[in-house]
Amino acid sequence: MQAVKIADGIYWIGANIHTEDLFEGIWPIPKGVALNSYIVKGDKIAIIELVREWAGAHHILLESMKSIPVDVKDIDYIILNHLEPDHTGFTYMLHKLAPNAEIIATPKGAELVDGFYEIKNNVKTVKTGDTLDLGRGKEFMFAEIPNVHWPETMVTYEKSTKTLFSSDAFGAYGVHKGSIFDDETPDDHKPYWEEEMLRYYANIVAMFSTSVLKAIDALKDIEIKTIAPSHGLVWRGKPEVVVKKYIRYANYNQDYAEPEICVVWGSMYGNTGAMLSSILKGIASENVPVKIYRVPNDDPSFILGDVYKSAGLIIGTPTYEYEMFPPMKYLLDLLKKKRMRFKKVLFFGSYGWSGGAQKDFDELSNNMKWDILEPVVFRGYPTSEIQKKGEDLAAELARQVKEIPTKIKDEDY
Ligand SMILES: Cc1cc2nc3c(=O)[nH]c(=O)nc-3n(C[C@H](O)[C@H](O)[C@H](O)COP(=O)(O)O)c2cc1C
Ligand SMILES: [Fe+2]
Ligand SMILES: [Fe+2]
Repeated sequence: MQAVKIADGIYWIGANIHTEDLFEGIWPIPKGVALNSYIVKGDKIAIIELVREWAGAHHILLESMKSIPVDVKDIDYIILNHLEPDHTGFTYMLHKLAPNAEIIATPKGAELVDGFYEIKNNVKTVKTGDTLDLGRGKEFMFAEIPNVHWPETMVTYEKSTKTLFSSDAFGAYGVHKGSIFDDETPDDHKPYWEEEMLRYYANIVAMFSTSVLKAIDALKDIEIKTIAPSHGLVWRGKPEVVVKKYIRYANYNQDYAEPEICVVWGSMYGNTGAMLSSILKGIASENVPVKIYRVPNDDPSFILGDVYKSAGLIIGTPTYEYEMFPPMKYLLDLLKKKRMRFKKVLFFGSYGWSGGAQKDFDELSNNMKWDILEPVVFRGYPTSEIQKKGEDLAAELARQVKEIPTKIKDEDY
């Protein structure tokens, strides 16, 4: 693998990972993920973000470094913006290969360097505003962006090239497809990146949306020519596009999101499922875009992406041992954890004896700022009157959703 030059003295040396493994042990990545790592060369040499030893990533990193050429033992600084092991798993090994290198992290980051890798010596802590001169005009400035995505997170800004190494902020799932740069991305790859970026945001970042908006505000006076995140594209053509995308995503849980509906249903014996066509008929009558998922058949990672983006949410679940169907309960728990707030919601489901799913749903959806229509719960199979009620309420939800203004106004890149 060859390094890719980003600017004078700045190189991408990341690894595009294809794996059966789940990201963070939970999220499928069928289209892979890029672990971006960067070399900055002045008189001194710095590496920013690493990889974990995953699908040969450490080997790729060392080979790319050689192509610059940089000899690993000559590295002076290992800059760890964020200590999550997808970017730091290689630290222990790199510390042996580059014994003189100083590790740079925030004070909370330094605690994790010790906690994960038992490294205490040669660790320098930095805080917002601190600088590091590499010589030959290359100078870093650091800025803490706590809770994007972990509490110790910072960004590193190279002043001469105006490059922001933004850690997980502005990242995406997905491997690079021929180029690492936004301005070399063919138009037909753009829906792929939008999907992978939104799903990454919904899975990984959504909970921290307030911190994302704070970080963007804190960095607004810094002139940025290139955004180099730890996953996804490097934005050197139009970095403002990814910033606006992230502002849009962050606002999806501060207010109602897009005028679309996501239907998520589960059913053991088809009674709850029998309502689905009436629900979809109601939505179709108002011509509102809809995504449909079934639990547990569809993976929550993908469901989260579309629930997050949609202002409308319809949940269909039977009662299972006095509560919701377990895979739906798990999904609701994730929606709560990821703060998927401000939705127009309809609930439906079948029960056999005394029910319970709806009560469970009401408890789990408490404090979510959801606007919930009258529920459609029924014993056994839905009668034609119940089906009509479901259709009418779904149409009512669709009408409410249609009134929400569209937020997607991305510039092209
Ligand atoms: C494992 C299991 C647990 C159930 N637990 C309850 C329950 O606690 N309360 C209830 O009213 N019905 C309960 N039922 C009955 C179902 O809710 C009922 O059969 C319903 O129609 C199933 O809807 P479905 O066909 O969409 O799966 C249970 C059924 C099964 C198979
Ligand atoms: Fe992270
Ligand atoms: Fe990451």
